Amino acid sequence: MLDAREAMERLNAEAGRLNIWLRTQANAPAQRPWFRETGLEASGQIAAGRVGTAQLKPVAHRWRWREIAPYLDRIAEIARGADVSPIEFAERQQFLLTNPGLGGRLQVTSTMRCAVSIYNPGDVAPVHIHTPNASRTILSDKGGYTTIEGERCEAARGDLILTPNGTWHDHGNDGTEPVVWIDVLDFPLMEFLDCVWLDEGFPGETQGNARAQRVTRPSAYSHKLYGRGGMVPRFVPPRRGFGREVTPMFYYRGIDIREALDGLRQEEGDPYEAISLRFVNPATGLSLFPTLDYGAQLLRPGEATRFKRETASTLYVVIEGEGATEIGGQRFEWQANDIFVVPSFSWRRHCNIADTDAVLYTVSDAPLLEKIGQYRAQGRLADETVAELVP
Ligand SMILES: [Fe+2]
Repeated sequence: MLDAREAMERLNAEAGRLNIWLRTQANAPAQRPWFRETGLEASGQIAAGRVGTAQLKPVAHRWRWREIAPYLDRIAEIARGADVSPIEFAERQQFLLTNPGLGGRLQVTSTMRCAVSIYNPGDVAPVHIHTPNASRTILSDKGGYTTIEGERCEAARGDLILTPNGTWHDHGNDGTEPVVWIDVLDFPLMEFLDCVWLDEGFPGETQGNARAQRVTRPSAYSHKLYGRGGMVPRFVPPRRGFGREVTPMFYYRGIDIREALDGLRQEEGDPYEAISLRFVNPATGLSLFPTLDYGAQLLRPGEATRFKRETASTLYVVIEGEGATEIGGQRFEWQANDIFVVPSFSWRRHCNIADTDAVLYTVSDAPLLEKIGQYRAQGRLADETVAELVP
């Protein structure tokens, strides 16, 4: 008697060369009743099968700063001795983080790209504009500068600088020490949507050979306009650049973020997120980018959050402190400058294991999931039952 299952598998082996796929039991797609499988051990796993594999799912991962940072020094070293510096022929001096689950693709989640960049004194990335939304999180004590739509932002450690879709921007380092920052972009998502383009034909005046845009706004103009929570100027159009639904505030200072977190430390906070702040578009109260949500959270000494999971992925940058995050049954210890990623639907909780504060910055693709009607979240209560946080 013909074994239909086996026959189907054989047929599939042939069909593969035509780039078609016959659905069979053995290569069942990654479909599971996520919300009913509430055990910690099942989290983050996908159904076995060819489709599940071919889809390439991001996995939980941590990049230790002490392991990856030496490569920056090596890049900088090459740049110092080069006749033509890498920033000229490769446009950037950086390495990109690759999620081990994504087969070498230059992305940390299905939506996000993350790079670590170094700028030597004198380096300039010429003025340009693009469709991906981007940010940089400054790791150096003094972090060079970024000019966006005529506003120059002098950066320092912990600063968050935004270059939304459709804003002209250039970066550089006119200090005396190399500067390092982390770039996060929604590049893979835009690429998937065939929506990536870049233009270097800045229509305004530039200065120097390096093609930097002229500074036409007062320093920290973002703060002048939007630096006071709850008050926004009526006479300035809340659109800078051609992007829609992106924040007109380009610059958050690390010192302000830390102060805001500190000012809330006596509050109970959220059982899943501790003392957490969400950065919002001051004109609309919505996420900074339509695709990505930015935030910062403080974990007080010894504080541990409860387990939570969401239909969104989150990238974390450790700004301060030491701790551990359990993700889908794996424990990842972290310290300053480490970067880690929590994929969609993995149970996770954070613990500050030190007797000092820990501060994490976050980037999440939750706004995108919300917009397409797919955002859900669950939490585990103290008695281990599961609460529907966003049903
Ligand atoms: Fe850019």
